[in-house]
Amino acid sequence: MVDNLAFFDYSKNMREKVLKLLKANMPNYVSGEEIARALGVSRTAVWKNVNLLQEEGYVIEGSPRLGYRLIEVPDLLYPAEIAAGLKTVIIASEPAKIHYFRQVDSTSEAIKKLGDRGAPEGTLVVAEEQTGGKGRLGRRWFSPPAKGIWLSTLLRPPVLPREAPIFTLMSAVAVVKAIKSTLPHIPTGIKWPNDLLVNGRRKVCGILTELKAEADLLHYLVIGIGINVNLRKQDFPSQLQGCATSLLLENGEKELPRLPLLVKVLEELDTIYQEYLLKGPGNIIKSWKEKNITLNREVTVKSPLGEFTGRALDIAGDGALIVQNKKGEIKHFHGGEVTLS
Ligand code: BTN
Repeated sequence: MVDNLAFFDYSKNMREKVLKLLKANMPNYVSGEEIARALGVSRTAVWKNVNLLQEEGYVIEGSPRLGYRLIEVPDLLYPAEIAAGLKTVIIASEPAKIHYFRQVDSTSEAIKKLGDRGAPEGTLVVAEEQTGGKGRLGRRWFSPPAKGIWLSTLLRPPVLPREAPIFTLMSAVAVVKAIKSTLPHIPTGIKWPNDLLVNGRRKVCGILTELKAEADLLHYLVIGIGINVNLRKQDFPSQLQGCATSLLLENGEKELPRLPLLVKVLEELDTIYQEYLLKGPGNIIKSWKEKNITLNREVTVKSPLGEFTGRALDIAGDGALIVQNKKGEIKHFHGGEVTLS
């Protein structure tokens, strides 16, 4: 159950309506009386909701004569803020699809509970902090409060479970595009299947794709995306300091507002997914190849079948990595961990 967690339904409440009015008038004052009249509530109710917004980090100035004015919006991923700037058709396309947690074990675990109750395609779960963030291959994903983008989205593509790996590549392409359009000078590339590395070395984003399926029926797919945005070196646990990075660290220690990047990620994901539904995987494969840092390199793939070292030749139409060793043997990998030599 998600109900007992810090879950906010921003689509209906008064706080959101007060905020909308303040935003519409930003940076000017609106009188408490005017807000009260517009929303059909008392001035005390307006004052209480302004207090709530201030507690959430909105900087609102109050003047007994002039009323209230909004000065600054906090860098928090509130659903109302996400919805306000978003142009999508499927993912988070209506406020009711957006679920927000200040803290949750894992956005992917939370969204699976919603998926099991029939949540629609494009449902989104975003959290400021994950206490049990999950990485690939049973690892943990470090997700401290308000420093990154920790999100999961639920898709119900009309495909067989074995076709699911393409969505892993799709998500990586979408996030690279979003990062490149926000910070074009940061050289971000994809290590198969979906690790985003800066300068081919340090990981800035990880993607975990999970399925709820029977052998020949896909119920839903969960794409979990973790982007290290404003983590400083000392924020990372020592064992990650050598291999992980953040956009802040790659951008001269400059903080990046998370909300516009989140919106961009969702829009890129939405566009590429719609294109997939209409035209199939061709463009995903093409875009992935343009952004990858794996092909034509010596790689070692660790998989349940053991270790295999060779040259990464290509990716197949189903997203498998094709590797050829020195003896000329060729293998297709559908999962596993790649080390670049
Ligand atoms: C990896 O190991 O590279 C995958 C990391 C995926 C992390 C994200 S953060 C949001 C979502 N919720 C989780 O628990 N994991 C994914």
